[in-house]
Amino acid sequence: MTRVAILISGGGSNMVALADAVRPVLVLSNEPGAGGLSKAAARDIPTEVVDHRDFPDRPAFEAELTRQLDAHQTQVICLAGFMRILTPGFVERWDGRILNIHPSLLPKYPGLNTHQRALDAGDSEAGCTVHMVTPVLDDGPILGQARVPVLPDDTAQSLAARVLAEEHELYPAVLRRFLEGNIEPLYLP
Ligand code: GRF
Repeated sequence: MTRVAILISGGGSNMVALADAVRPVLVLSNEPGAGGLSKAAARDIPTEVVDHRDFPDRPAFEAELTRQLDAHQTQVICLAGFMRILTPGFVERWDGRILNIHPSLLPKYPGLNTHQRALDAGDSEAGCTVHMVTPVLDDGPILGQARVPVLPDDTAQSLAARVLAEEHELYPAVLRRFLEGNIEPLYLP
């Protein structure tokens, strides 16, 4: 069984969806108060906090991340609402074994505020992307995408909620395929 660690910073709804599909060996957060930590603990999943504020710089923070990940013999990392940018050194060490979910149809809208940007652009559809993490932010090979319609009365919040529901379908499905060695992109619906 591949040893998967999930990194979070917030509520962890994607972590829960992933954990229900593939039991992780660790849920790690950079935020001590992340709601996802209690959700993981409620599922008896080991948790760790590595607070980035406790370290003088990114390399020191990432060295502690690596220590925790190695202590759990991690083989694959899933970023699930993890809001820290990882250095090329960290990413290259994991060499294609880090996945991320991003709330837009990449390559459109890398970075933040993706839903408002889609609304501002008048897009008729939006969605989410699971991709392999590379040193360039939100830019790696696409492993899956899910599309949703943008509705006339959508706000960033209503669109985010519709996309999030798709994230919870897409990410577990892509992770299962990835762990079977299948990197053929999955498109939903
Ligand atoms: C999701 O919208 C995801 O696309 C983005 O951050 C959010 C995480 O939500 N990366 P949650 O913490 O998984 O509920």
